[in-house]
Amino acid sequence: MKRIAVFASGQGTNLEAILEAVKSGGISGEVALVISDQEKAQALQRAQRWGVKALFINPKEYKNREQYDQVLVDQLKADKIDLVVLAGFMRLLTPLFVRAFPLKIMNIHPSLLPAFPGLEGVEQALAYGVKVSGCTVHFIDEGLDTGPVILQEAVPVIQEDTIETLHQRIHASEYRLYPTAIDLFCRDKLKVEGRRCLIID
Ligand code: GAR
Repeated sequence: MKRIAVFASGQGTNLEAILEAVKSGGISGEVALVISDQEKAQALQRAQRWGVKALFINPKEYKNREQYDQVLVDQLKADKIDLVVLAGFMRLLTPLFVRAFPLKIMNIHPSLLPAFPGLEGVEQALAYGVKVSGCTVHFIDEGLDTGPVILQEAVPVIQEDTIETLHQRIHASEYRLYPTAIDLFCRDKLKVEGRRCLIID
């Protein structure tokens, strides 16, 4: 059984979807740890409600990003984590962290990458005027939202959309896509060749 850590800075609705999927057998792994960089993150309260170990690790207590990331790495090693899942974690990880877990860190982003990377993917897509956006699950590399794509799902943009309505439909798509990608990892079904992530039988 793979041991998963989820990192979240905000409301944690993806975390909730992941925990539901673990419970219903949709993910053949266990969430062993939730970490947040925000003390008040709803994600921490959700984890506690599910009886999952939840830690707030305060970036302000460390001199620089590398020191903070080293603490994260040490914690993950101590908890014997196999997969790190970023679910609305709003910090850029340093190469130190990425190199400690090569192709073992996933992220979900609310656009069809490589379009609209970085912050405010939904806002960027709406402002650009695209007719289709969506969400992307990808492995983390040392760039900003540039790692190999694992799964993507398209979400149409409608004329009446606001940031909130579009993000709501993208969220609904994320709740399906992320557990699917995590389960593929847990069952050793993902293989990366260069930039391409293949699903193997
Ligand atoms: C999700 O829509 C996720 O794609 C996005 O933050 C939201 C978190 O929602 N992530 C990013 O924008 C990463 N750059 P949640 O806290 O309810 O899961």
